[in-house]
Amino acid sequence: MTKKTAELHLSDTTTPLDLPVISGTVGPDVVDVRSLVSKGIFTFDPGFVSTASCESEITYIDGDNGILLHRGYPIEQLAEKASFLDTCFLLLNGELPTRQEKADFENTIRYHTMVDQQIHEFFKGFPRNAHPMAMLCGAVGGLSAFYHENLDIEDADHRKQAAHRIIAKMPTLAAMVYKHGVGQPFMYPQNDMGFSANFLHMMFGTPCEPPKVSKTLSKAMDVIFTLHADHEQNASTSTVRLAGSSGANPYACIASGIAALWGPSHGGANEAVLEMLYEINDEKNISNFILKAKDKDDPFRLMGFGHRVYKNFDPRATVMRKICDDVLEELGVKDDPLFRIARKLEQIALEDEYFIDRKLYPNVDFYSGIILKAIGIPTNLFTVIFATGRTPGWISHWDEMLSSPYKIGRPRQLYKGHARRDMP
Ligand code: CMC
Repeated sequence: MTKKTAELHLSDTTTPLDLPVISGTVGPDVVDVRSLVSKGIFTFDPGFVSTASCESEITYIDGDNGILLHRGYPIEQLAEKASFLDTCFLLLNGELPTRQEKADFENTIRYHTMVDQQIHEFFKGFPRNAHPMAMLCGAVGGLSAFYHENLDIEDADHRKQAAHRIIAKMPTLAAMVYKHGVGQPFMYPQNDMGFSANFLHMMFGTPCEPPKVSKTLSKAMDVIFTLHADHEQNASTSTVRLAGSSGANPYACIASGIAALWGPSHGGANEAVLEMLYEINDEKNISNFILKAKDKDDPFRLMGFGHRVYKNFDPRATVMRKICDDVLEELGVKDDPLFRIARKLEQIALEDEYFIDRKLYPNVDFYSGIILKAIGIPTNLFTVIFATGRTPGWISHWDEMLSSPYKIGRPRQLYKGHARRDMP
């Protein structure tokens, strides 16, 4: 078979430039433009809209067909048959764990859940009303001060240990963020609990009572973490890769990913769903909000509807919807006015021509916001939950990049400023 190439014709040269075309396992081909620099040309693609920034074997998304695969496995199957820790192992190692590997991995993660006692002191410096993402970003960056010393990022075993540490400590830190905000004592992790049950225990338990965590809610939490585990080269993951490409330590890299996730265009949408539901306030106001969303002259959009990549349906939302039902049932809040508004809004939008024509379906954030609210997680902590779930994705991409030869990330620019001029 002849190799595919692309020809680039520049109007001021006679010979076209031949550029190789590279095919992935599945998905669109990419034109390899790496040789252009030697001809003094760069490509221009703000926002990386048409640019593959790296080669990766971790996650594949086909937005037109609503497909999300981790190491080849569909997200629906992982959410049903694998735990969050199985998914972490898969993302990190490329294969699902055997029974023995699963037991060993769970033990390793359990062993690393505690944070250095000095971190408790570190939290005391934050105001009680600090934004949870500010505290998480600071605390994760702060881990570099404790675990950087003996870390050789060129050593695969050291990288793996850092990955385990950070996956294990993230829920502990996330819960500390919450406890600091509400002024309750930090809870130590319980080694006899699973990952997600332990998280809920550290969030809602107090030293005055024996641990008590519902199975349905732990399962729901585990699925929420699993559904957020990775989403290929999104803004925060690309940030982690870019920071890591300079050789920075992994805790600082993950802190940079947390900073990128914090923005409302990335991790903040589930929070916006809840704010919208509060604003709607009553079922009788839904039709007005639908009209506002359809009005071209009104910037309002239905939060939790539509997606930049998924133009058919968001496969994560399908799983999340089912969990949403289970959680509302378990908590006996199916008739809560806020959730009634959510259900009604979903039904009306799904039957409305405007939304059908534009393929605007409820996305993962529509349901995750509702579930997190029902579990009792405050709205301003939603992005912290997202960060906890996304950590294995971030660290797997960081590890993947460092596992093969890599270059420091250094985009070029189209300079539009002054040409050289002399001082007056
Ligand atoms: N409500 C009303 N109209 C909408 C909405 C919405 N939520 N989303 C898109 N549209 C309309 C838009 O006005 C446009 O209409 P027209 O063709 O008549 O001009 C059409 O649908 C296409 O919209 P677009 O802006 O070209 O679509 P996009 O791919 O650029 O935007 C989006 C995707 C997610 C930013 C957008 O759908 C949106 O703002 N949704 C609400 C916010 C939200 O829920 N975000 C969470 C996404 S999931 C998070 C994740 O995976 O990380």
